[in-house]
Amino acid sequence: MSDMHFTVLPSRGLSGRLRVASDKSISHRSVILGAIADGTTRIENLLEGEDVLATVDAFRKMGVEIDRDDREGQPAYTVNGVGMDGLRPPDGPLDLGNSGTAFRLIAGLMSAQPFASTLVGDESLSKRPMSRIIEPLAKMGARIDSSDGRPPLRIAAADGLCGIRYRLPVASAQVKSAILLAALKADGETVVVEPRATRDHTETLLAGFGYPVSVSGPEIRLEGGHSLTAARVEVPADLSSAAFFIVAALIAPDSRLRLDSVGINPRRTGILDILERMGADIRLENRRWQGGEAVADLVVSSSELAGCDISGADVALAIDEIPVISVAAAAAKGETVIHGAEELRVKESDRISTVAQGLERLGIGVRERPDGMTIRGGRFHPGEIDSHGDHRIAMAFSVAALVAGGPVRIRNCRNVATSFPNFTDLAAETGMRISVDDGGAGGAGSGSRD
Ligand code: S3P
Repeated sequence: MSDMHFTVLPSRGLSGRLRVASDKSISHRSVILGAIADGTTRIENLLEGEDVLATVDAFRKMGVEIDRDDREGQPAYTVNGVGMDGLRPPDGPLDLGNSGTAFRLIAGLMSAQPFASTLVGDESLSKRPMSRIIEPLAKMGARIDSSDGRPPLRIAAADGLCGIRYRLPVASAQVKSAILLAALKADGETVVVEPRATRDHTETLLAGFGYPVSVSGPEIRLEGGHSLTAARVEVPADLSSAAFFIVAALIAPDSRLRLDSVGINPRRTGILDILERMGADIRLENRRWQGGEAVADLVVSSSELAGCDISGADVALAIDEIPVISVAAAAAKGETVIHGAEELRVKESDRISTVAQGLERLGIGVRERPDGMTIRGGRFHPGEIDSHGDHRIAMAFSVAALVAGGPVRIRNCRNVATSFPNFTDLAAETGMRISVDDGGAGGAGSGSRD
């Protein structure tokens, strides 16, 4: 498959009003829970990124009828739930593409099914650690085979799982969710204890689908054997996707962007806290509740940013935003020190080293450490970087290019489609100038409006 490369020119004066891509975490979970609920779940604004479409495809392969309609201009999906015992054995491996979330959550669910399954992923996913889910699921009685703790996973038909009490060794919403999804069909109670708060969409949505779940401090508790009732889910815009436009508007001079209906679940808003400490002008307007999640419209204006210290607790609440926060730090005055970010090394790429390499190539002073990096604010030079096939690295450096001294070329941007399929179109609407090419394989396009 041919790849896709971006060339981004510096710009100022970004403006406009956008609704960025829908929330990826909520989209995956609403398909998964809708599939095993009783009745028909309707999901408005499901993210149609490749990661979520891989989840949709996996459930279709297990006999769940999932239909799309776009009656009101916005895609809506109906998931005809088959109930807790209604999934059918797929007739081949389930391919979860680039998505760690789909892979880990579905692995949890599959561990409790009365049929065997095999889960596979792309090259990047095949390098990501799965022992973190295999170990607790095995404690529950699941039988999972892997080659040295990485995909593919071969999951045997379950022979009755039992509930466990498990303290997560790493703060991970994906691991927490894998255990909770397995626990739905386990005997007795499961308690997951989090070392640090992580996103709670699984708990919130389980409750929204009528499943009894209780949360007390760091403990999430549920008993197996209940059922889920179909629900209507309206997916908010993803703060993790809004992050690119937030930082773009902050660092490009004379800019002001309004980002509509963005999810502001407190377990996700670490980026807003960090940027506020750096001096960002971000206003939250029209705060409201939408399907159990807090949302607001964000109004972001160009700001003079100053470096700050980012701790492990900050990182857990901004886990996917650290690349673009690093770009903000590089455009800020002074030094930013990021600690406790070792989890970034096992994302779609090793995000500490891909960010550090990219910043260095564009002339920014960076010191990499095992658990983070120190970034000295400066001026980006024009140049070329490699996103290493990581969607968030590609988008973060598209933002960096806004304030570079000339064009920045970013190689291997195809995976932007996993989380934010219309990124270049929306970027063009704001005044960003991104042209897209396939490195000579044929067919160039432009996402710029000039
Ligand atoms: C996600 C959790 C995070 C995040 C990922 C989405 C989720 O991973 O990086 O993009 O939807 O649960 P970890 O919780 O494993 O850090």
